[in-house]
Amino acid sequence: MKAIKKLIGVLIFCSTILFSICLSAQDYVPALENLEARKWFQEAKFGLFVHWGVYSILGDGEWVMNNQNIAIDEYEKLPTFFNPIDFDPEAWVSMVKEAGMKYITITSRHHDGFSMFDSKATDYDIVDATPYGKDILKALAEECRKQDIKLFFYYSLLDWNRDDYFPRGRTGTKIPGRGTGLWEDYIAFMKIQLTELLTNYGDIGGIWFDGHWDQKEWDGEKFGKLKVDWHYDEIYGLIHELQPQALIGNNHHIGVINGEDFQMFEKDLPGKNTTGWGTASDQIGSVPLEVCETINGSWGFNLQDRKHKSDKELIHYLIKAAGYGSNMLLNVGPMPNGKIQPKHQTSLKAIGKWLASNAKSIYGTQRGPIAPTDDFVSTQKGKTVYLHILNPKLNIIHMGSVPLKIKNIRSLNSQNSIPFRNDKFGLVLDISKLTKDNIDTVIQIELK
Ligand code: GLC
Repeated sequence: MKAIKKLIGVLIFCSTILFSICLSAQDYVPALENLEARKWFQEAKFGLFVHWGVYSILGDGEWVMNNQNIAIDEYEKLPTFFNPIDFDPEAWVSMVKEAGMKYITITSRHHDGFSMFDSKATDYDIVDATPYGKDILKALAEECRKQDIKLFFYYSLLDWNRDDYFPRGRTGTKIPGRGTGLWEDYIAFMKIQLTELLTNYGDIGGIWFDGHWDQKEWDGEKFGKLKVDWHYDEIYGLIHELQPQALIGNNHHIGVINGEDFQMFEKDLPGKNTTGWGTASDQIGSVPLEVCETINGSWGFNLQDRKHKSDKELIHYLIKAAGYGSNMLLNVGPMPNGKIQPKHQTSLKAIGKWLASNAKSIYGTQRGPIAPTDDFVSTQKGKTVYLHILNPKLNIIHMGSVPLKIKNIRSLNSQNSIPFRNDKFGLVLDISKLTKDNIDTVIQIELK
């Protein structure tokens, strides 16, 4: 009897825990506007990531303060000569449109702690601390509205400048001049800034958080426990309350946390984790996905970075991301004068040109039913599957059996029929007669 009572007790205890876990996982119910925004985002497929801050002056990426252990008082000299007089929001947004991108995600404040917008919570911002004196986010927000491009703000959780970012995280530990302060003050500071970002720039696309991982224990090989409470419930709650349509994503490299609306994958296709610190495949959520990648090898402007990706590599990445049902957020690091490197502008134009003639097969699509390989990738819209042939040397494609009821298969551009067979031995396509494009040849599979 005693044993049965004990068992019942354990069962009640377990179900209470399970219930509260389920409850907290379900706490957040996205508003209707939010669900619409998610749909828009999922279909948008392509955006521009912009890493721009006072670090661009040093031409050594956005981590330069940490990498060169620049003392706080030395780093603070940078704003005094940050004067991007050639920043032309109209030119930026027109470039984005021509590239076929639908949104921009720009760093409002990076790990160096410098705010690229007018903030009442600090004087360490572009309006108060630079000779330029203008709020670049405001100018960009206005131009985006004019040209119908959505604007998202990247916001760093991690800060190498402020005393109240304490306890300190894993990074920036050798930067001279860092003080101590109260974590609760830091959370309060972030809330004021986020309120500013969500009230002073009209309706925004969303907030892109980064730096969560800084507060995780690290033994040199793997991450351990989180040292702090980021107060996500309050921060996310605040954002959703101020602008329900604004989408929240967090580059924490783990599964979706309650309150988040999209999930990002840094320098990796969803589930790939080639970086070693990326999101594991079993952590992919059921929210819209976004992959971010650099146009060269750096996020912030890096003068000596010569790893510019070819047009083909960039377009392939966009296609592959779409094949995984994901957006691609392609990054440029503007120069200190506010211009984007001509080489990068040329690449963006080339992608835009490609997209203009292959639009159907990317925008508005979902992950396709044919599993992606290095040679081909599929996307789908309604009853049409787009098979992107990335390897122009392919003549016969033989894949395992795919449960598709196929009506016909044609080339997207020429609309010529493609011979195929689909039976228990798999799907076989004969594309030997097809004129292949060196970048991508799109085949349209109509389903019954
Ligand atoms: C990393 C870096 C950061 C960059 C971001 C973009 O988290 O810390 O510099 O902003 O990736 O994905």
